[in-house]
Amino acid sequence: MVDIISAKSLGSNDIKIDGAVGEPFCDDAKMSMRNVDVFYGDNQAIHDVSFDLEKNQVTALIGPSGCGKSTFLRCLNRMNDLIPICNVKGSLQLDGEEIYGKQMDPVLLRARVGMVFQKPNPFPKSIYENVAYGPKIHGLATDKSELDEIVETSLRKAGLFNEVKDRLDQPGTGLSGGQQQRLCIARTIAVSPEVILMDEPASALDPIATAVIEELIHELKEKYTIAIVTHSMQQAARVSQKTAYFHLGKLVEMGDTKQIFTNPRHELTENYISGRFG
Ligand SMILES: Nc1ncnc2c1ncn2[C@@H]1O[C@H](COP(=O)(O)OP(=O)(O)OP(=O)(O)O)[C@@H](O)[C@H]1O
Ligand SMILES: [Mg+2]
Repeated sequence: MVDIISAKSLGSNDIKIDGAVGEPFCDDAKMSMRNVDVFYGDNQAIHDVSFDLEKNQVTALIGPSGCGKSTFLRCLNRMNDLIPICNVKGSLQLDGEEIYGKQMDPVLLRARVGMVFQKPNPFPKSIYENVAYGPKIHGLATDKSELDEIVETSLRKAGLFNEVKDRLDQPGTGLSGGQQQRLCIARTIAVSPEVILMDEPASALDPIATAVIEELIHELKEKYTIAIVTHSMQQAARVSQKTAYFHLGKLVEMGDTKQIFTNPRHELTENYISGRFG
């Protein structure tokens, strides 16, 4: 628990963000971020952000466009390493281990902390190969039958197996958008991650495909720790237990999703969830 800084008396144009209000830390953290700053060249996109991702919980990252949600999410599995001008400072830990430490292999990290993107991005390979690729490069199967087993289990967990079991050799790109996104989730699950990061995973999907993904997220949290960026307040409320509200690269408020949506502590959060801006 950190100090609660009430901004309710300030005018909306000069509301201060002096540090996150609410409960950004927990006793059962899978990932712990402390004083994280992120720069693109000289531009600072994330300012002194600290919070935990609680084990086997879904944490929603919400906030106006450009507030740094994707930037922050990409720090959690070092996807920002792929952007040369991006520079990350602060402490980011997975089970107490520094993910930017010298010992950490970013390829192994990305198997432990998987990512699902806004636009489904299956490889130009068969459905089977999309899922089998990760286990193969990480040597997770000793023979073909073990690999078959991983592919089937991953597709089942992603709620896709029954729809594709008779056409595993067909291209992944031939599936519908919602099916492709579930294929990408199966691909992520196939390497037995501990954390799954999702950046607006349902924004390109229709309401039915979105409902399937949301149901899936609900089931996945039994086994995995999940962070999801979403622009949909309803989705955040439906799928997450914790919510973090970002504004202009700062964490404004963090807490139980129910509390954030029914009784936000900070005026900026209140403005955003009530649709006054964003
Ligand atoms: N590759 C990049 N190079 C330079 N600046 C970037 C890059 N990616 C993001 N930024 C900047 O960092 C800031 C945060 O962007 P980011 O994409 O993280 O926001 P976001 O909250 O995910 O927005 P949205 O909701 O629109 O996806 C923005 O000012 C953006 O212009
Ligand atoms: Mg984004």
